[in-house]
Amino acid sequence: MQPTSPTAQHSRSQELMALEDQYGAHNYHPLPVVLSRGEGVHLWDVDGKHYYDFLSAYSAVNQGHCHPRIIGALTEQAQKLTLTSRAFFNDQLGAAEKQLCELFNYDKALLMNSGAEAVETALKLARKWGYQEKGIAPNQALILVAEHNFHGRTTGIISFSTDPDSTGGFGPYNPGYQVVPYNDLEALEEALKDPHVCGFLVEPIQGEAGVMVPADGYLAKAAALCKDHKVLFIADEIQTGLGRTGELLAVCYEGVHADILILGKALSGGVLPVSAVLARNEIMLTIQPGQHGSTFGGNPLASVVLRAALDVLLDEKLTANARVLGEVFRERMRRVQAKRPEVVEEVRGKGLLNAVVINPHVDGRTAWDVCVSLMERGVLAKPTHGDIIRFAPPLVITEEQLHEVCDVIEEVIMAF
Ligand SMILES: Cc1ncc(COP(=O)(O)O)c(C=O)c1O
Repeated sequence: MQPTSPTAQHSRSQELMALEDQYGAHNYHPLPVVLSRGEGVHLWDVDGKHYYDFLSAYSAVNQGHCHPRIIGALTEQAQKLTLTSRAFFNDQLGAAEKQLCELFNYDKALLMNSGAEAVETALKLARKWGYQEKGIAPNQALILVAEHNFHGRTTGIISFSTDPDSTGGFGPYNPGYQVVPYNDLEALEEALKDPHVCGFLVEPIQGEAGVMVPADGYLAKAAALCKDHKVLFIADEIQTGLGRTGELLAVCYEGVHADILILGKALSGGVLPVSAVLARNEIMLTIQPGQHGSTFGGNPLASVVLRAALDVLLDEKLTANARVLGEVFRERMRRVQAKRPEVVEEVRGKGLLNAVVINPHVDGRTAWDVCVSLMERGVLAKPTHGDIIRFAPPLVITEEQLHEVCDVIEEVIMAF
């Protein structure tokens, strides 16, 4: 086969980007790279150029791209049965629910598809529980959420977002939510005094807000305060869960067992949209047949993929890898910060969910420009909020690969 000329390759990427631009909605602003293949921590674009993935599809690909065990489970099941709807039983769902409940120590699991759907499910559960178990007057239930939260994009969820990009032009917003400052126990305690409060929905680390890590003890104390006020502590671990932060769940750092646990993203290793809500019977059984569901939720294909994704996570000890390599990454970045403190304002994170905050006032270059330079050197990461770069590689990354990428990041930052 004749090698394609660089100009022809370049025009192929341009062509594909133009196609999306013309026919796709403009609801994202991607980096200008067109990917066509992935394996583990590696990605390749349509021109065959290699990249290290340092975003992992917003932490959905913890197990690495196209993990052979997960893809094997997917392809085998895809030839047998993919979807029955919940009008009938299928032979795979029960085993997936059992595995989830046993691993995370809950009575029941409810499977959905996207993360946002799982969050909506948790909100409905909290309200139903609030009316039935806490005795809140009809339609008066209140759910507390944290400032700068990100839980998805449905009209219900954006009703309590504090990000103008998420909310602007999409009103009217649903009532029934109260925003409290994140990482502020006093404010939480005050808000919990309202007897209409049935739940506190919180990200153990705020990922989209820029990897905001709360003070040690915040989650444990917040959970205890919720318990004291008979309020459900609802942990959205869609981004932080499943090994990403160096514990199976980020709440494990503080010995917290949430009343309602929300999982998504890496629950399928990035293969299919699979999400789940876990809770004890008293909460989950408030929902009766016909009161909640989704055509694809709990389908046999998703059930099989979920089990394989969890097996890979455990068998390959990805949580421990995230913990150890997370320390290595932050140590390396702190050394870069020490060399260029005027460029790197802060390094923060847990496990392999990390952020480097760039000072945009040094030579006018923003986090976006840094990400473009990284991309040109074969590392893919995405900026958030203008000055923050999140670094979250698949958890299958090796120490050698991590150092290779740290060298590239250092090179780019030293070039400021
Ligand atoms: C903490 C958190 N919750 C919910 C969501 C929404 O998940 P999805 O995009 O699958 O709807 C996200 C997505 O980034 C998230 O990070």
